[in-house]
Amino acid sequence: MCPVLLLLLAAFGPESQFAAALPENSTGQRFFVVYPENIAYYHPTPPQNRVRITALFNNTVVGIRQYTYNYTEYTLNSGESNEYAVDARLELTRSNISNGTLQITSTSAITVQAISVRNGSMQTALVIPADRLGTSYRPPPIPNIPGTTDVDLSLYVTERAPFRLMILNADRANTVTVAGATTQVLQLQPNQTAQVWLQPDALPTVTAELPVSVAFGHSCAMRDNCTCGLLYTPLLPVPGGNQDFPVPPSGSAYDTSLLLSGPSSVVPLDPNSLRVRSSGSVVLYLPGLLLPLTAESSFGSCFVVNRINDTQTFAVVLVDKDHTDGVHAGKAALPNPQWAALPGTDYVWTRFEVLNTCFIWHSSLTMAVYFGGTNGNGSLFGNPAPVISTFPDYRGCVLTPEVLLIGEQAMGWPESVQYCRNRTLELISISSTPFQAQTYQNILQTKSSSVQDMWIGLRRSSQTGDWYWLNTDPVTDTDWDVGEPGDVDAGQCTMMSLNGTSFPWSDEDCCQPAFPICYGKPVLLQPTVLV
Ligand SMILES: *[C@@H]1O[C@H](CO)[C@@H](O)[C@H](O)[C@H]1NC(C)=O
Ligand SMILES: *[C@@H]1O[C@H](CO)[C@@H](O)[C@H](O)[C@H]1NC(C)=O
Ligand SMILES: *[C@@H]1O[C@H](CO)[C@@H](O)[C@H](O)[C@H]1NC(C)=O
Ligand SMILES: *[C@@H]1O[C@H](CO)[C@@H](O)[C@H](O)[C@H]1NC(C)=O
Ligand SMILES: *[C@@H]1O[C@H](CO)[C@@H](O)[C@H](O)[C@H]1NC(C)=O
Ligand SMILES: *[C@@H]1O[C@H](CO)[C@@H](O)[C@H](O)[C@H]1NC(C)=O
Ligand SMILES: *[C@@H]1O[C@H](CO)[C@@H](O)[C@H](O)[C@H]1NC(C)=O
Ligand SMILES: *[C@@H]1O[C@H](CO)[C@@H](O)[C@H](O)[C@H]1NC(C)=O
Ligand SMILES: *[C@@H]1O[C@H](CO)[C@@H](O)[C@H](O)[C@H]1NC(C)=O
Ligand SMILES: *[C@@H]1O[C@H](CO)[C@@H](O)[C@H](O)[C@H]1NC(C)=O
Ligand SMILES: *[C@@H]1O[C@H](CO)[C@@H](O)[C@H](O)[C@H]1NC(C)=O
Ligand SMILES: *[C@@H]1O[C@H](CO)[C@@H](O)[C@H](O)[C@H]1NC(C)=O
Repeated sequence: MCPVLLLLLAAFGPESQFAAALPENSTGQRFFVVYPENIAYYHPTPPQNRVRITALFNNTVVGIRQYTYNYTEYTLNSGESNEYAVDARLELTRSNISNGTLQITSTSAITVQAISVRNGSMQTALVIPADRLGTSYRPPPIPNIPGTTDVDLSLYVTERAPFRLMILNADRANTVTVAGATTQVLQLQPNQTAQVWLQPDALPTVTAELPVSVAFGHSCAMRDNCTCGLLYTPLLPVPGGNQDFPVPPSGSAYDTSLLLSGPSSVVPLDPNSLRVRSSGSVVLYLPGLLLPLTAESSFGSCFVVNRINDTQTFAVVLVDKDHTDGVHAGKAALPNPQWAALPGTDYVWTRFEVLNTCFIWHSSLTMAVYFGGTNGNGSLFGNPAPVISTFPDYRGCVLTPEVLLIGEQAMGWPESVQYCRNRTLELISISSTPFQAQTYQNILQTKSSSVQDMWIGLRRSSQTGDWYWLNTDPVTDTDWDVGEPGDVDAGQCTMMSLNGTSFPWSDEDCCQPAFPICYGKPVLLQPTVLV
C-alpha cells in the first residue's frame, strides 16, 4: 500500500487502447526543460528550481546537463525518485532568446517533472519526452485575470507584463514561425528558448520545422489578496479531431474557467456538466493554476505521483463509475475511498494525500489522474500525473506491454507452437481466470473478423492423458464449453472458439487448422517497489 492519507472530498480550490497506433505515455529517455521567469518583485530571493525524476527500471543512469554550468550523472533503481536542484542562473529572464535550458538523458525510461519555486511562488509542470514533442501548437486564449490582464500593458511592471509563449528547441538548429496579428520567424540554435509576448486579441499558431516544446504563462499573475505568482503550463501538440475532456472538480465555479484552443474560447465552468469537447487543448484556469486537462483518448492505466517536500501533495483520480474497484495505490486497492459523482459524466472522482512516491494503477481500464497541492505560502500547483502506461493489467503497473499476436493464417497445433517460437513468443498459456478475462478482452479488440477458431497452449499428455499447459502452470482454471472436454479419443489439443463475446474451449484433433495465439510476457513494476 502506498503511504496515502484519505482526505475529505474537497477539491483543488484554496480550501485499452490496443486499437491506438501509438500508446501515449509520459516516459522517455530524453527531455528538454526550461524554467520561466518567476518574479514577485517584492520577493527578491533567488529561485529554488528543481527537477523531479522517477526511474522505472534498475540501474538507470540519468545525466543532467545545465547549459555551460554543470553536468551531473547518477543512478536510480526501479521506482526510485529524486529531486535535483537546478542552478539559479538557468531561470529565464526578460531576454527574448536564451541558452538557459536543462537537458536530461537516461539509459532507460524515466518520468520528469519540473518544479519552479521562488519564495512563495510555486508551479509544477509535467515535462513531455523529446520524442513526443510536436511541430504544431495552438495556444489557448488568455484567461481574464483582474489586476493582470485588464490593465494597461504599456505600464510595464512585473505583474502587468503580457502573457507569453516559451518555445524550447531540441538539439538541432530550427526555424519556428509564430503567426498571429504579426508573423515572427525565429531562428533557434540547439537547446535555445525563445520568449514571445502574446497580444490578447490575436492568438497565434506556432509551427516549427523540427519538434519543439511550447509553454504558456505569465511571470507573475495576480492570485488573491494582491499577491502575484508564476503561472505556466506546457502545451500539448495539436491533436486530430474532436476530443472529450472530463473536468476535474475545482472547488467553486467562481473565477474558474476553461480555456479551449479549438475553437478558441474562454468558457465559464458549469458545475452541472463537468465535460467539455474541443478540437484542441483544454486548460483549466483558477487563480494561481493552469491545469491542462486529459482527453478521454489520452487516459492512462498507471501513473506515478511524488510528494514534494514542505507541501501538501495530493492525487485526484477520475474513473468510470462502475469500475472503482480496479483503482490501486501501490500494492493494494484504495483503502475506503469516498467516490463522488462528476456531474454530467459517467465518472466518479476521489482525492487523497500522497506521503511518498506512489504508483496509481487500474486493473482493467484507463482513467485520469492529476497531481496537485499547495505550499504553506498558499501557492497552488498541479499538473496531469505522469503516465507510465496505457495498457491496463490485472497484475499491476505495466513497464513494457505484453505481446499478443494472432497468427496470419490457420495451421495445426504443432505448427502453431513453432510459429510462435519463430517469433520468440510462446503459444499462449491462459492458466488463470483473470488472465483469461483480460486476454478475451484484448483479442476482441485486436482480432480480424476472419478469426474464429484459435489454438492455445493446453494439451493432453499422450502418455498419461492428463492436461498440461505449455508453460507448466498447474491446470486449475479452465473454460471448457458445455460437455467438453471429451474422452481421450476426442482430441489432444485445446481449441478456443469465438462465440459472441465468449471463447468456449473444446478438445480437438491437433492437425485441424486454427489460428495460433502467441504471447510475450509484459514487464511489470516489481511488487517490492509498490510499498
Ligand atoms: C518570502 O515571502 C514572504 C511573504 O510571503 C516575505 O515575508 C519574506 O520576507 C520572503 N522571504 C524572503 C527571503 O524574501
Ligand atoms: C530491481 O532490483 C531489485 C533489487 O535487486 C529487485 O528486487 C527487482 O526485481 C529489480 N527490478 C527490476 C524491474 O528488474
Ligand atoms: C554540479 O552540481 C552538483 C550538484 O549541485 C555538484 O555536486 C557538482 O560538483 C557540480 N559539478 C560541477 C562540474 O560543477
Ligand atoms: C524530503 O525531506 C526528507 C526529510 O527532511 C529528506 O530526507 C528527503 O531527502 C527530502 N526529499 C527530497 C526529494 O528533497
Ligand atoms: C548561446 O549559444 C549560441 C550557440 O548555440 C551562441 O552563439 C550564443 O552566443 C550563446 N548566447 C549566450 C548569451 O551565451
Ligand atoms: C544540446 O543538448 C544535447 C543534450 O544534452 C547535447 O548533447 C548537445 O551537445 C547540446 N547542444 C548544444 C549546441 O548545446
Ligand atoms: C522581443 O520580443 C518582443 C515581443 O515578442 C518584440 O517586440 C521585440 O522586438 C523582440 N526583441 C528582439 C531583440 O527580438
Ligand atoms: C514560504 O516561503 C518561505 C520563503 O521562501 C519559505 O522559507 C517557507 O518555507 C515557505 N513556507 C512553506 C510552508 O512552504
Ligand atoms: C487572503 O486574506 C484573507 C483575509 O485576510 C485570508 O483569510 C486568506 O487566507 C488570504 N489568502 C491567502 C492566499 O493568503
Ligand atoms: C510508452 O511509449 C513508448 C513510445 O511509444 C513505447 O515504446 C512504450 O512501450 C510505452 N510504454 C508503455 C508501458 O506503454
Ligand atoms: C519457423 O521457422 C523455420 C525456419 O525459418 C521455418 O522453416 C518454418 O516454416 C517456420 N515455421 C512456422 C510455423 O512458421
Ligand atoms: C453460442 O452460445 C450460445 C449461447 O450460450 C449457445 O446457445 C450456442 O449454442 C453457442 N454456439 C456454438 C456454435 O457453440
